[in-house]
Amino acid sequence: MKVLVVGGGGREHTLVWKFKQSPRVAQVYCAPGNAGIAADAVCVNIGVENTEGLLKFALDEGIDLTVVGPEAPLTLGLVDKFREAGLRIFGASQKAAELEGSKILAKEIMFKYNIPTAKYADFTDAAKAVAYIRETGAPCVVKADGLAAGKGVIVAMDEQTAVDAVKLIMEDRAFGDSGNRLVVEEYLEGEEVSILAFTDGTTVIPMVSSQDHKRIFDNDEGPNTGGMGAYSPAPVYTKDLEPFVYDKILVPTIEGMKAEGRTYEGVIYAGLMLTREGPKVLEYNARFGDPETQAVLIRLETDLVDIIEAVIDKRLAGMEIKWHEEAAVCVVMASGGYPGRYDKGHIISGLGEASATGATVFHAGTAAREGSIVTSGGRVLGVTAMGRTIPEAIDNVYKAVEKITWDGVQYRKDIGQKALKRL
Ligand code: AMP
Ligand code: GLY
Repeated sequence: MKVLVVGGGGREHTLVWKFKQSPRVAQVYCAPGNAGIAADAVCVNIGVENTEGLLKFALDEGIDLTVVGPEAPLTLGLVDKFREAGLRIFGASQKAAELEGSKILAKEIMFKYNIPTAKYADFTDAAKAVAYIRETGAPCVVKADGLAAGKGVIVAMDEQTAVDAVKLIMEDRAFGDSGNRLVVEEYLEGEEVSILAFTDGTTVIPMVSSQDHKRIFDNDEGPNTGGMGAYSPAPVYTKDLEPFVYDKILVPTIEGMKAEGRTYEGVIYAGLMLTREGPKVLEYNARFGDPETQAVLIRLETDLVDIIEAVIDKRLAGMEIKWHEEAAVCVVMASGGYPGRYDKGHIISGLGEASATGATVFHAGTAAREGSIVTSGGRVLGVTAMGRTIPEAIDNVYKAVEKITWDGVQYRKDIGQKALKRL
């Protein structure tokens, strides 16, 4: 069959890499892809928000199965559009993806269906939000309601930072219309874990656990990024937490969405804080996480096409999904200056040497130029390796990372260290 992956980052390279291994897939296409993806798939230059262009391509090319990586096309209704045209597509519908697209909707669903999460209040008026912050005090977390590329969340340890965050979101409109409404929520303490699950709208099958590294610098310092690395499994997510997360979080979310007329199919990503009172939901994403996908899907033994078809045909119940026992670690290599301003076009060296170590180099922001691979984004590569244990996977991945360089390259040296403290 012909498979189309929508997106052009590290997550999408991982999806393409996985589909390429399926005996059921004859050809993988990726829109728009990147220089690394081009080695594994046919890249087509259509942007992820060009829903008409994507539909036309899929119809003209006779694509049998489309898989959506990023959130933007989901919230624009790409899945609905493909389904109306009779095409098979894996991802959340527009109404389902609003669980990620609106933090207020997510909070309303969680409160209505008794899903553990931080207490909150929502506002359309900056003065009222500020008055609320003055009354309840810090620490607290201020979140723009809409999508903001992971940047619309400000964790405020003092009142002034929270008040400034309201100004940034609602008055300076730093995140555009995403800041028409905002949430002020209770600050939760604990360690974070990402739980992704496949769902066909009724049955939910969790994937193996993982942990992201959101801050740019070692020891979780500096500003938030899209994610600087991940590992799987996350030892902090112990076996005894699994039934609680399944029964009290994943299943009620999917049942609640169905009851709301927002039947949810695809991947649901629950970002959890493991607090002293138990796991609580920080956020939902309506898609695979990036870079969690790199560390999670490299461990998937089952053919991803089989799982995705079971989701689309609503026969996930009874499906057995197999995972490799080994651990995986992904280190993101980024452009100097990221998550702020950065240059593009630096020649990347050492890609072949890194792959020769046995690691897998997923491309996130790369382009081809005059026979070289050059940087073309903030997050450039997601170098991923497995090992019998997390320490072994860490050793393996950094051996590969050290082979790669370019002008201004930066990466965290401590990916996976939190796991070691738990082992
Ligand atoms: P989100 O995009 O909602 O996951 O938020 C981004 C990051 O902000 C999370 O990964 C957490 O590190 C942090 N965060 C979000 N909500 C809270 C909260 N209620 N308490 C503490 N930290 C939070
Ligand atoms: N790694 C966080 C995300 O994909 O949103």
